[in-house]
Amino acid sequence: MTQATATQSYTPTFTKLVSKEGGIEYPLEARYVCEETFSPLEVAYDYESIRRQVSREKIQAGPNSIWRYRAFLPVATDNVIDVGTGMTPLVKSNRLARRLGLKNLYIKNDAVNMPTLSFKDRVVSVALSRARELGFTTVSCASTGNLANSTAALAAYAGLDCCVFIPADLEAGKILGTLIYNPTVMAVKGNYDQVNRLCSEVGNTYDWGFVNINLRPYYSEGSKTLGFEVAEQLGWKLPDHIVAPLASGSLYTKIYKGFQEFIKVGLVEDKTVRFSGAQAEGCSPIAQAFKEGRDFVTPVKPNTIAKSIAIGNPADGVYAMNIAKKTGGYIESVNDAEIIAGMKLLAETEGIFTETAGGTTIAVLQKLVEAGKIDPEETTVVYITGNGLKTQEAVQGYIGEPLLIEPKLESFERALERSRTLERLEWQQVSV
Ligand SMILES: Cc1ncc(COP(=O)(O)O)c(C=O)c1O
Repeated sequence: MTQATATQSYTPTFTKLVSKEGGIEYPLEARYVCEETFSPLEVAYDYESIRRQVSREKIQAGPNSIWRYRAFLPVATDNVIDVGTGMTPLVKSNRLARRLGLKNLYIKNDAVNMPTLSFKDRVVSVALSRARELGFTTVSCASTGNLANSTAALAAYAGLDCCVFIPADLEAGKILGTLIYNPTVMAVKGNYDQVNRLCSEVGNTYDWGFVNINLRPYYSEGSKTLGFEVAEQLGWKLPDHIVAPLASGSLYTKIYKGFQEFIKVGLVEDKTVRFSGAQAEGCSPIAQAFKEGRDFVTPVKPNTIAKSIAIGNPADGVYAMNIAKKTGGYIESVNDAEIIAGMKLLAETEGIFTETAGGTTIAVLQKLVEAGKIDPEETTVVYITGNGLKTQEAVQGYIGEPLLIEPKLESFERALERSRTLERLEWQQVSV
């Protein structure tokens, strides 16, 4: 198979920033909030220009990364940061599907995304490509862990200075997975929402590109590629139902935008995809608002093992909730024990070790199936957005121990017999 490189040329298609409320227009600079309506800013495109420049064939001949969808992304030059991010596997589930009683379940596996094993590599590739175009030499972020990993790694690759802010109590794997790239790491004694507020203040004084603050309109567009890839990998068809995790709600709203854009330019047929979302009970402001039928999201103080999705005051919460409502989806939450069980279930049935966010998503998928809210025949895609090697402490103590033996055959055989007896006993207990 021949792969083109990232040098495929496109005339830029993004035209302005527009406020989500009131449609107030701004130039394409580093800003994220409307001064009149205080609503977030969104990148707008010339869809006629996109339609003229793309085709299924041209996309397929593009790089094996998110940049095959460059016509839909807010970068002006050909000089993008492409380390092979995206085009992660869409796996047709067999054993998990059977366990849940589903016939057409697919797993979008961003636990193996490049370079830092989460979907954040998508958004950061776009944000840093745009940051360079806007002339930033230092990049930064407020992170629940994965974003810091990705910003630090891709800044190292691009030769940009980097200073990231994280809550001090993150998992060891997330902190180490940032420090290795040698950025400045600020471990803040507080939760993510406090980190985010601090970063907004820092951003007022320092001329830095904060990927998820002043560059947020560009950054968040990277998540559309999770929608584009699924449509392409399903043979240029949209699924019937998706289940994705929610923290700020950005990823979820952008998968939706991605599907809508593919419909708009004629790459796929129009249809309503049901959008369901997953939160951890210990930080579930969007799920609570959804269940109570409110049209506003009340901030909460996070307390859950799913730290990567522990955002108590979600910037895109209301927009995410509205998508669930208008598409006939659900937003559900699960407790920490269910999250661990979800991580184990995915690992045991599909050989995918996901982090706590993925455990949350699988547990919510299971809950929705059990409640009859997912039709067994529907083509359902579950988004796994991060890797379990980074949150090992979550499952420590819940997955058994290796059998310690002498380097002798008889020692092995005794241990094997003991473990088989134990397995039989467990089975008997289960089947009583
Ligand atoms: C692994 C993982 N999944 C999902 C999310 C949710 O992202 P969003 O804030 O776009 O809702 C995050 C956020 O950091 C994450 O790290």
